[in-house]
Amino acid sequence: MKEPASGAKRGPFITFEGLDGSGKSTQLRLLAARLREHGHKVLETREPGGTPLGEEIRRLALEEREEAPAPRAELGLMFAARADHCARRIEPARAQGIWVLCDRFTDASEAYQGAGRGLGGELVRQLHRVLCPESWPDLTFFLDVEIATCLERSRQRLRREASREGRFESETEEFFRKVRDGYLEIQKREPARFRIIAAEGEVYDVAGKIWNELEAWRNAEAKQ
Ligand code: TYD
Repeated sequence: MKEPASGAKRGPFITFEGLDGSGKSTQLRLLAARLREHGHKVLETREPGGTPLGEEIRRLALEEREEAPAPRAELGLMFAARADHCARRIEPARAQGIWVLCDRFTDASEAYQGAGRGLGGELVRQLHRVLCPESWPDLTFFLDVEIATCLERSRQRLRREASREGRFESETEEFFRKVRDGYLEIQKREPARFRIIAAEGEVYDVAGKIWNELEAWRNAEAKQ
């Protein structure tokens, strides 16, 4: 991979994963704020989304509709958004030494479409290699919370915000069990990158765990 032209170090790419309602968006914001306090430049972004095209695709992919998209169409939408996001936001930011914190990335496609919808992980990884070959997270935090708790929280939020992006929230517990298993498979394959954070506890305790993991990762990187 290319080093930034300025000679500055490439910005780290950190992703947050978890079931809907696991609290990952809150933790992403807290980590971004703490990194900024330490003088780092940070891009906070999300998938699907992150660019104007990506946000349009997000609406198409997540809104409830009479006929749900076929699973491969759903996966295609995620990757159309991702390819734009990687090329237009993530890699340009990293090239300037900016830290990129992203709410979901390809692991979500592997868990939701690969495992949840049954398309298989290999198809997802193939699409990634073809469409987003430059981008892979340095570190991923998977916020692990009981499925029932996640579902309760995400459905409540949907009602509170009167959001129409509810296609996944209406899935069954069985679907989310498959999604969670999909995430755990990734952890087995890439234990150094994919860190499971027990995230049932108080928000600031969870943020502390994430910070400690990040520090450990940075110390290990510095030694290399
Ligand atoms: P998320 O950003 O977590 O929504 P919110 O912040 O509103 O809770 O994710 C939106 C949904 O998109 C989530 O249900 C998971 C789904 N998703 C996939 O199925 N595949 C993907 O590749 C991505 C990025 C998200």
